[in-house]
Amino acid sequence: MVRLLALCPVLWFAACEEEGDEDGPPSGAVCPETSTLTWDNFGKPFMTNYCTRCHSTALTGSARQGAPNDHNFDSAALVREEIEHTDEQAAAGPDAVNTLMPIGAPTPSEDERRQLGEWLACGAP
Ligand code: HEC
Repeated sequence: MVRLLALCPVLWFAACEEEGDEDGPPSGAVCPETSTLTWDNFGKPFMTNYCTRCHSTALTGSARQGAPNDHNFDSAALVREEIEHTDEQAAAGPDAVNTLMPIGAPTPSEDERRQLGEWLACGAP
């Protein structure tokens, strides 16, 4: 990663635009018409359990444990700004089970990751 970033001024590929940009593949999750997942019944508890200990607007500096300042998950609106990245870091679907995030325990079950994929595919309502 460090080596790749060092090459960025020379080889300007899109991957160099942001830090921490090693995403997994899209999960391929789709939004079923019958989906009942919402911020209140799924997104908020999921993010609180697994993500906002680093990715929260309430945290600054070292308390973020390296989480980029522009990736926060303490509201549905903030998650909606990062649907693709979030899918590629943490969600599961027919094409991939992405486990890059969270860093460290506790981690969601695969079933919870599938629900994340579905909720994101539905637009994080
Ligand atoms: C222990 C702290 C920690 C936790 C918990 C955590 N992250 Fe991260 N996150 C990081 C750090 C550090 C980075 C930047 C380095 C990297 O991308 O690996 C990051 C980067 C990201 C990015 C940006 C990647 C990119 O492509 O720019 C996303 C999206 C993300 N995390 C999503 C999540 C989600 C979703 C969760 C919960 C399932 C989560 N993170 C939990 C520390 C954390």
